[in-house]
Amino acid sequence: MIISLDRAIELIRNGDIVAFPTETVYGLGADVKNVVAIQKTFDIKGRPADNPLIVHISDIDQVYELATDIPDSFKKLANHFWPGPLTMVLKKQAAVPDIVTAGLDSVAIRMPDHPIALELIRNTGPLTAPSANRSGKPSPTRAEHIIEDYGDKLPVVDGGSSTIGLESTVLDLTSKQIEILRPGAISAEMIENLLKTEVFKSTDHAADSLPKSPGVKYTHYKPKASVNWIHSVPSQFDSKTFYILHSKMSGKTEKNVVTCNGNFDLLAKLLYDYFRTADHLGYSQILVETLPKLSPHPLIPPLKNRISKSVGS
Ligand code: TXA
Ligand code: MG
Repeated sequence: MIISLDRAIELIRNGDIVAFPTETVYGLGADVKNVVAIQKTFDIKGRPADNPLIVHISDIDQVYELATDIPDSFKKLANHFWPGPLTMVLKKQAAVPDIVTAGLDSVAIRMPDHPIALELIRNTGPLTAPSANRSGKPSPTRAEHIIEDYGDKLPVVDGGSSTIGLESTVLDLTSKQIEILRPGAISAEMIENLLKTEVFKSTDHAADSLPKSPGVKYTHYKPKASVNWIHSVPSQFDSKTFYILHSKMSGKTEKNVVTCNGNFDLLAKLLYDYFRTADHLGYSQILVETLPKLSPHPLIPPLKNRISKSVGS
């Protein structure tokens, strides 16, 4: 159910949950101090209890109420990238409820770059917000996706399409070795350039090591259709397959063939929408053109990450 921002503020203050837009994907908000409301977000999503939530803030000072032992790198990163698609993991204050952090001694915090999200949080205080999809579904990038997942009963503030379309970069600042736990629009290179220090990527870990970000072990971002890579644009398209391409193409009008024409910002913005569209239209297979290995585009690593997680079923 689409509601106004004012109504959303009222609902959160009353201990309810509300979906709201951010520049990455829509989030499912609850007051960080209200464990009953937070539990509702786990329940309605069907989210495993061991997967911690990101706390969304509207003012840098709120970090000091949520986290402790804050390193110098935090301030530099926050000043430079917030509001924006960067989530920082810090040592948590005791006051942060365990349900938020799934019992970890760290807390993930982000200031979203979206006028509705910021105005909401300014009026309610910090909000926990997982991506508003049902667990296992692609993250919602439009209000319609939320109605698709839950029917009309979940209140949502409609802010149009998310401009980025992929979830934020999750960066662990709790140890000396700064590490990207989930790639997003803020790239390792952007962080390294700012901090003048090397940033570790979780993919550098041995495959069998314990994931530091509990969420990464779950199958996410998965449409019903099977997803596979193709290495080039086929000369003929199979009418039972949905194709997600990036090569420039002219004059293609088939409803099962989409291309971003080399615009990776657009591919990121529409990827989850394409996944959902393929499912709606009943395709059982999605083929995605492999992404260029040498492109410096910052969205290539998160795109590869999300698509790879969908491959193989
Ligand atoms: O862009 C985003 O980050 C969106 C929007 C709504 O802000 N939110 C989002 O939330 O993607 P969610 O819950 O779908 O993903 C949160 C990720 C998970 O992979 C989780 O494991 C990780 O952040 N995370 C949360 N708290 C953590 C912590 N204390 N330590 C390590 N990873 C954490
Ligand atoms: Mg999610």
